[in-house]
Amino acid sequence: MCGITGYIGSRNAYPIIINGLKRLEYRGYDSAGVMVFDGEQIQLSKTKGKVSDLEAITNIDESRKKGSIGIGHTRWATHGVPNDVNSHPHVSQSGELVIVHNGIIENYDTIRKELISRGYTFQSDTDTEVLVNLIEEVKKNENCKLGKAVQLALTNVIGAYAIAVFDKTRPNELVVARLGSPIAIGIGKDNEEFFVASDASPFIEFTRDAVYLEDGELAIVKRNKEIKVRKISNDKEVDAVIQELQLNLEQIEKGGYDHFMLKEIHEQPKAIIDTYRGRMLPNEGIIRMAGVDDHMSKFLHADRIIIVACGTSWHAGLVGEYLLEEMTRVPVEVEYASEFRYRNPIITPKDVVIAISQSGETADTLAAIKLAKSKGAFVFGICNVVGSSIARETHAGAYTHAGPEIGVASTKAFTTQITVLSLISLKLAQAKGTLAKSAVNNYLQTLQLIPSQIEKLLEIDDLVKEISYVYKDATNCLYLGRGFNFPVALEGALKLKEISYIHAEGYPAAEMKHGPIALIDENMPVFVIATNKGHYEKVVSNIQEIKSRSGKIIAIVTEGDVTVKEIADHVIEIPETEEAFTPLLTTIPLQLLSYHIAIMLGKNVDQPRNLAKSVTVE
Ligand code: F6R
Repeated sequence: MCGITGYIGSRNAYPIIINGLKRLEYRGYDSAGVMVFDGEQIQLSKTKGKVSDLEAITNIDESRKKGSIGIGHTRWATHGVPNDVNSHPHVSQSGELVIVHNGIIENYDTIRKELISRGYTFQSDTDTEVLVNLIEEVKKNENCKLGKAVQLALTNVIGAYAIAVFDKTRPNELVVARLGSPIAIGIGKDNEEFFVASDASPFIEFTRDAVYLEDGELAIVKRNKEIKVRKISNDKEVDAVIQELQLNLEQIEKGGYDHFMLKEIHEQPKAIIDTYRGRMLPNEGIIRMAGVDDHMSKFLHADRIIIVACGTSWHAGLVGEYLLEEMTRVPVEVEYASEFRYRNPIITPKDVVIAISQSGETADTLAAIKLAKSKGAFVFGICNVVGSSIARETHAGAYTHAGPEIGVASTKAFTTQITVLSLISLKLAQAKGTLAKSAVNNYLQTLQLIPSQIEKLLEIDDLVKEISYVYKDATNCLYLGRGFNFPVALEGALKLKEISYIHAEGYPAAEMKHGPIALIDENMPVFVIATNKGHYEKVVSNIQEIKSRSGKIIAIVTEGDVTVKEIADHVIEIPETEEAFTPLLTTIPLQLLSYHIAIMLGKNVDQPRNLAKSVTVE
């Protein structure tokens, strides 16, 4: 949940660390800190707030910025409220060791009590301060170097972590370790410099070579020396596998947009093309997905498919349920990963589990995958981040290829996940014979049109702004949809609440009369998805029910609609497509609405309060 950066080399470490932290702020932004070592003194600056608040402090005193080695942190609080003291980096009691940490040390309280009995005192409420002092205690007792002390200390730790540790007495090295939280090490030319970060974005302009530590690995990174990677469990050396980065700087910059969220909304046509590129030949009716092809018998013999995910990815999973059941006639269940992992679910080797995650790091989804694997199920991953933990933990998978999603509110991840789920559904329908060849071809040809249709839909921005202006002061909103568009209603409500803090609920339209209808009065905006296919007349009846109770109706309809236009207060038209693909279109105006309302309310859409992009803690 937090972001870590580090640098060791011959350049000034400070700007590299600070710029890196800005790129990692999507991971957490309630406090920030940096430590640089100038050869004599540890310069520690940290504060509650964003990286820009940290800069305001360091800008007062240039000496805080000197040194060619350092570590930095941007935090999403787990233990201890966000304040200056709880901010990272944390320093050990002797003042020699400094640490930044992403994750949770579950047995920190036991360790803390033990350390207190040995004379340690603590300034903060964090588990991280406990860890740095544990490393110090081990180093003292074993009379060993930092690397060994970190390795031994971590064998006593339960929890998840990515850490970078500095030792004032060994100013030419950093020790980095991971279990459950990602960490990458960028390798400069001839090992002259190294970069440490939670993902590769902080060092993309400096090097294309990186080592991604595996769970349970520790790396000792020394100036001008080769990186050494060891197993935490037995201290045995393992090969450092150097990968070439595919990311580029443009992808992680705003590219002329005011916010990453808006950029990512507008990137959806390209992202969807990148997702299906090379995977389908619509005219020939060919779908190629290596991860599915190589394990077709697992899919064909599955008793059922279980989809596990969280948040927006879970909503995409719900669309997947409609797609897969409609097209392949295989029973599908969609589960919140956080519930699935703890409710002793019945899973058999005849189940196929599909795990969906943009980041590929969501702790609950990862745990659900491990549980399903332990019960013998075949697990297929749909991830965006290449090489992420979920991508590596699953038996097979398909990347969405949406490019980096930096805005905390997920947008292009949702539509590209649905694109992958559509391709999987069509591929399985083909293999099972549940759809005729002509139907598959027709679906593929229709899917191919979606990017240009979204392009056109994005031109409605002014209309969406007008509607946003009317409803920006609402305190509650309802989102209704049926069938394929019920998950879109959930997603629309989630988008609004997470970036504008307006309370919003998504419901299947017909459920409204079983309770939520009591909420409707002249102050309640109701966003209704009423496309021409799939229960149109029923949704029209629901709209009438809202109208007769004075609710305000903002309807998303298909081009050329007449009936809803007469009843609704506002309508937004989407182009004609297959019902199964309407979520790819209906979600676009809802994303824009949330964006504009949040902007009009003066909210920080890319960094909404209390949230973080990848949730690597339970
Ligand atoms: C909402 C949002 C979250 C994520 C959820 C899962 O806009 O971004 O609800 O969808 O935390 O994250 P991933 O997909 O990375 O597993």
